[in-house]
Amino acid sequence: MYNGLKRIGSSTYGYISRRFYSTTGVNGEGQSQKPQETTHFGFQTVNKEEKESMVKGVFDSVSSNYDLMNDFMSMGIHRLWKDELIKTLNPVPGSHLLDVAGGTGDISFRFLDKIKQSKYYFPQINQDGSGQSSTSLPSSATVFDINQSMLDQGKKRGILNGYNDTTDPSIDWVHGSAEQLPFQSDTFNCYTISFGIRNCTNIEKVLQEAHRVLKKGGRFLCLEFSHVPNPLLKFAYDTYSFNVIPIMGQLVAGDRDSYQYLVESIRKFPTQDNFAKMIENAGFKQVTYKNLSFGVCSIHSGFKL
Ligand SMILES: C[S@@+](CC[C@H](N)C(=O)[O-])C[C@H]1O[C@@H](n2cnc3c(N)ncnc32)[C@H](O)[C@@H]1O
Repeated sequence: MYNGLKRIGSSTYGYISRRFYSTTGVNGEGQSQKPQETTHFGFQTVNKEEKESMVKGVFDSVSSNYDLMNDFMSMGIHRLWKDELIKTLNPVPGSHLLDVAGGTGDISFRFLDKIKQSKYYFPQINQDGSGQSSTSLPSSATVFDINQSMLDQGKKRGILNGYNDTTDPSIDWVHGSAEQLPFQSDTFNCYTISFGIRNCTNIEKVLQEAHRVLKKGGRFLCLEFSHVPNPLLKFAYDTYSFNVIPIMGQLVAGDRDSYQYLVESIRKFPTQDNFAKMIENAGFKQVTYKNLSFGVCSIHSGFKL
């Protein structure tokens, strides 16, 4: 038992304690007679309609410690990966970003900061002393997430980082699912999804929606945990992931299960090449990817042309 929680299954890497367990059970055990469409939730097989609420449970549980845990787990490296995503996007004034599964706003804050560093950004001090505005084309970042608790944490961070959504029209926080975006077609010129798509039930639907809301010429970028091709490095990475991260989750955030889910969900995500094909199938062109940290993460890119 962990944390008074029931263990309901085992994996290659040892027993899994399960707070977010499904009625389907590990590897489909206990399925009802009626055939139902299944998917994975980490190493568990769950009914498709259950996954979204289970993922919600994970992020409701981790939201208050999310940013701290990111720093602990990755030893701060997630910041470099996110910087690389924004460097790849290289936004200029006039860009409008939809940051899906945006969580606590890390990508959106970086996007808006980067625009302010652009040579096409012309700041000016407001006459009334209310701070700084710009005479360049307006830009915006919409942080979009299915978990209100993550968005609420992000809004608090935004105020500390100079992006207060009540006074600053450049940032917006919207609640909803990546599989059904509440935006008109051809609205944004940048779409990012960072460490989010892995958690979605219907990845194909997420990609189709990304393609729909982008304007022609718009860019899709996905930063996600991926697969380490080198067997030696993979062994070291797996050992760290399965033995250290859940324990860290327990010690730092008092939540082992959510971090066990995290490491399992990474292993279930398609390989870099297969994911690139899925992006192409959704209609994106010029699809490429680059590995970061030997394939621990990758950035996939595609354009709506
Ligand atoms: C690991 S966090 C990533 C947050 C942020 N993008 C970052 O890089 O730090 C994953 C986020 O995906 C969100 N999420 C999961 N499923 C989603 C869905 N179907 N639609 C929108 N957001 C979703 C979660 O609520 C969570 O905030």
